[in-house]
Amino acid sequence: MTLAERTLARFADLVGAAPDLAVRAPGRVNLIGEHTDYNDGFVLPAAIGLQSVVAVRRRPDSIVRLIAADFGDAVSAFDLAQPIARDANQPWSDYIRGVAIVLQAEGVELGGLDMLVAGDIPQGSGLSSSASLSVASGMAFGGLFAPGRFDATEIALIAQRAECDFVGMRCGNMDQLASAHGAAGNALLIDCRSLDVRPVAMPPGTAVVIVHSGISRGLVDGHYNERRASCEAVARQLGVPALRDLTPGQLEAARADLDPVAYRRARHVVTENARTLDVAAAMEWGDLIALGNAMAESHASMRDDFEITLPAIDRLVAELQDAIGGHGGARMTGGGFGGAVVALVEADAVEAVVARVEARYRTPEGGKPLIMVERAHAGASFL
Ligand code: GLA
Repeated sequence: MTLAERTLARFADLVGAAPDLAVRAPGRVNLIGEHTDYNDGFVLPAAIGLQSVVAVRRRPDSIVRLIAADFGDAVSAFDLAQPIARDANQPWSDYIRGVAIVLQAEGVELGGLDMLVAGDIPQGSGLSSSASLSVASGMAFGGLFAPGRFDATEIALIAQRAECDFVGMRCGNMDQLASAHGAAGNALLIDCRSLDVRPVAMPPGTAVVIVHSGISRGLVDGHYNERRASCEAVARQLGVPALRDLTPGQLEAARADLDPVAYRRARHVVTENARTLDVAAAMEWGDLIALGNAMAESHASMRDDFEITLPAIDRLVAELQDAIGGHGGARMTGGGFGGAVVALVEADAVEAVVARVEARYRTPEGGKPLIMVERAHAGASFL
């Protein structure tokens, strides 16, 4: 049984009736463009096969009852007639609570419902389990109470606002846009300022290999928001709306006026924007060497300038790069401080690359890492 089939069957068991509707929303892997989204820059993610599924059925009252299949059917409930608060015992529910609040603020008249949520994206892996849950629940609420009102971009922005304003992680818009807009066989070049989303075909004959380091990261732990604040401070100091508006040359010219750490943070963002556009172009030309070089530079920049990698992740990336040789590349993906590493490799090299990682990398618990051979999938949809 697929995750969707299991979720629908479980819903009938728990609620005693079939759902009114169900939604799937994928996680994403970011090929390049890290910590550029909240700087109004460019990102190049792809939706993956791992996903969140939610099934909902209206209730006659104003109670929203959320059930998490992956947490032993844990329940978190709230009354729409009361102000919606966070649930410290069931923090997974805060993403959905936040979406409900944002929809109410948008004037959507929500009603009570039962919602079952399930997913197969490892949490803390940097593959956007939370964004996919927010997008799926946004579509489910929207599908029941405001059908046809929000397009994919609007749903993504609602999900992002929920995470920023309610959960307290001041994320950018990449994860939600990737989950909502994913296109099979394509990465998405997203301009996070104009919200233009352009599919970029994955180079023929390649595969995406994702390795979970086994180190899970806590996103609301301050590092993320602190990096964001540092980027915003540089933009303010240099009188531009966002780091997107600086060329590497302009940043260099201002170097002497900047705090050295803030300068390095900004240098990561400014150079990463340029690399992201380079990789999108390299994918279109099928230039796996240029792509691999840019991915390697991106990782080094995250390690040395933005300082969001960990020694174990650096070693894992080095193993992958070594196994790949020049044709393709590898880097850490996602917010950092753990999580997954992404590699783009020629299809006939996949086996050797996987074997190398299995032989050489151990998680902190001493086990073999979770390795996923992926391709780009379609974005969120009703089931
Ligand atoms: C997390 C955030 C995204 C983005 C990445 C880093 O996934 O949710 O908005 O900033 O980190 O690129």
